[in-house]
Amino acid sequence: MSKTNIDFPDNLLWYKDAIIYELHIKAFRDGNGDGVGDFQGLLEKLDYLQELGVTAIWLLPFYPSPLRDDGYDIADYYTINKSYGDIEQFKILLDEAHRRNLKVITELVINHSSDQHPWFQRARRAPKGSPERDYYVWTDDPTQYKDVRIIFQDFEKSNWTWDNEAQQYYWHRFFHHQPDLNYGNPLVQDEVFRMIDYWCELGVDGFRLDAVPYLFEREGTNGENLPETHAFLKKLRKHVDDHFPGVVFLAEANMWPEDSASYFGNGDECHMNYHFPVMPRLFMSLQMEDRYPITDIFDQTPAIPANCQWAIFLRNHDELTLEMVTDEERDYMYKTYAKDPKAKINLGIRHRLAPLLGNNRKKIELMNSLLFSLPGTPVIYYGDEIGMGDNVYLGDRDGVRTPMQWSPDRNAGFSTANPHKLYLPTILDPEYHYESVNVETQRQNTSSLFWFMKRMITLRKKHKAFGRGDLNFLPVENPKVLAFTRTYADETLLFVINLSKFSQPAHIELTGFSGYVPVEAFSQNSFPIVSENETYFFTLAPHDYQWFVLEKKHTDVIPAFQLPTINVALWGRF
Ligand code: NOJ
Repeated sequence: MSKTNIDFPDNLLWYKDAIIYELHIKAFRDGNGDGVGDFQGLLEKLDYLQELGVTAIWLLPFYPSPLRDDGYDIADYYTINKSYGDIEQFKILLDEAHRRNLKVITELVINHSSDQHPWFQRARRAPKGSPERDYYVWTDDPTQYKDVRIIFQDFEKSNWTWDNEAQQYYWHRFFHHQPDLNYGNPLVQDEVFRMIDYWCELGVDGFRLDAVPYLFEREGTNGENLPETHAFLKKLRKHVDDHFPGVVFLAEANMWPEDSASYFGNGDECHMNYHFPVMPRLFMSLQMEDRYPITDIFDQTPAIPANCQWAIFLRNHDELTLEMVTDEERDYMYKTYAKDPKAKINLGIRHRLAPLLGNNRKKIELMNSLLFSLPGTPVIYYGDEIGMGDNVYLGDRDGVRTPMQWSPDRNAGFSTANPHKLYLPTILDPEYHYESVNVETQRQNTSSLFWFMKRMITLRKKHKAFGRGDLNFLPVENPKVLAFTRTYADETLLFVINLSKFSQPAHIELTGFSGYVPVEAFSQNSFPIVSENETYFFTLAPHDYQWFVLEKKHTDVIPAFQLPTINVALWGRF
C-alpha cells in the first residue's frame, strides 16, 4: 500500500484515522429563522456530530458568492457569505469544533472565481496584456486548447466565452460564469499563498482543493495534470509544511488511479485525494453481485507514499460521477441506477445513497461496511447517515442538497421560517418524508440507520488498521464474496462480504493465520480457530458483511495453577 516506511509524528497524520462528515452550512441548520442554514445553526448541532462520532467536518464553500454554482463561484476569498454569518462566528465555530476534537476542513476553490469577483471585473476592463487582465486566461482565437474536454456537458458548449467588455474570449473549465484564474501569472500564485495564510492563521485544519488538475493550460495537451500544476502544488505544500504543519490538502482530482495518485507526489504534494474510480465500482459490484470491479480497481491503484491517504466516499454534493468508467460501464450504471431519466446530469446520476439503493437497508449497510473497511479515510455526506431521500425535479444538483432532516416538526426541524422561505424545499416524497426520516426519530430507535452508523464509527475508531492497514484480497472461489485483510503493526482485521441478495457459501484461504481465532468485531464472539492447510468456511446471509479481528491464540503451555505454600510457625498453646 505504501511506498516508504518513514515515520511521521502521529499528530501530523490525524487525517489517516479521521472520519470526515461533509456538510453545507446553508443546508444543515438555520439558527436565525430566515430559511437559510448558518454558522449559528451549525454551532447548535456540533454535539450531534460528536455523538455520531465523526472526527472532522468538511464545509462546502461559505464565501460571498452569486451562488450560481452553490458557492463554488467565489466573489471574495476572505469573508463569509452574509446569509451564513460572519468571520467572528467562523472563529467561534473553529474553537467549538476543536474543543470537541473535531477538525475543520474548508474549501479552497482556486481554479476559478466567480465572474463577479473584483479581479474579473477589473480584468475585463484592463488593457490587453496588462497584469490585471492576465489574472484570467484570454484569447482572440477560441480554437486554442481545442483538446480540452468540456466537463459540464449539459450546460456549456465550449470552454471559451466571449466577453463584450474585454473584446476577447475567456477560459473556463466549468460554468461560463466561473472564469479560470491564470496560473501563468505569478501575481495569481501570490494571491493563493495569501489566502492560505489567512485561513491557516485563523486555525483551519485542512483545505479541499477543488478542481485541482486544471490549474494550468498548455497548447497541444488536454490541460489536465500538467507538470506545472504539480510544481505549483508542491510549492504550496512546502509553504504549509513550513508554516502550518498538520494542515492538510485534500485534492479533488477526478482522474484514473495513476493520474489521481500523482497528486500525492513523493509525499510532498497533497496529503489526501479522493479515490474517484472506486466509488462507481462499489455500486457496480453490488448490482453485478461480483467482486471483480472492486478488486480490479484496487489492483490498478498504485502504492502511495506512507504519509498519504485516499479519501473514499459513496455520495457527495455532486452527481454520482461516471467520468472514470468505460462507456459500457456507464451504460450499465445508468440502466441500473438512473431509473428516472431526470436523474441523469452531465456524466452522472443525481441521487443520494438511499434512493440509489432502492432504500434497501441491507444494501445501505453493506455499502457503508465497504466505505468503512476499504483503505482510505471515509467521507460521509450529511443526511446519508439517516438515509435521507432526494428530489431529482429540482435544478442542477440541488436535489441532493435539501435541508437536513432533524425532526418530524415544521421544515424537518431545520428552520422555523415559513416553509416557502426555505432556500430549497424539504423532502416530501412519502418514502423519505421528514416526518419519518429524521434524526430525532432515529435517535430513539437503536435499530435505526443512525445507530448502525454510530456503531460502525465507534468500532472503526478502536482499530488503527482501518485507517493505516495494508490491503490484501483473499482468494475465494465464489465470486459473489469479497474477502480481504487489513494489517497494521501487529493487528489484522478480516472482512468477508456477500455482494449477493441470496445466501452464499465461502471457502476462504487464511494462509498464514493458522492458530489464529477470528473474533467477531462487534460482538467479540470467538469463531473456531484457523487450522493449518484447511480453508475456512463461512455461511453468509444475503448482503451480509462480517468483520473480525484475527487474534493469535496462545499455544504456550501455561503451568497448572498451584496454591502457594505458606509456612507458618506455630507458637503458643499447642
Ligand atoms: C467540483 C465541485 O465539487 C462542484 O460542486 C463544482 O460545481 C465544481 N468543482 C466547480 O467548482
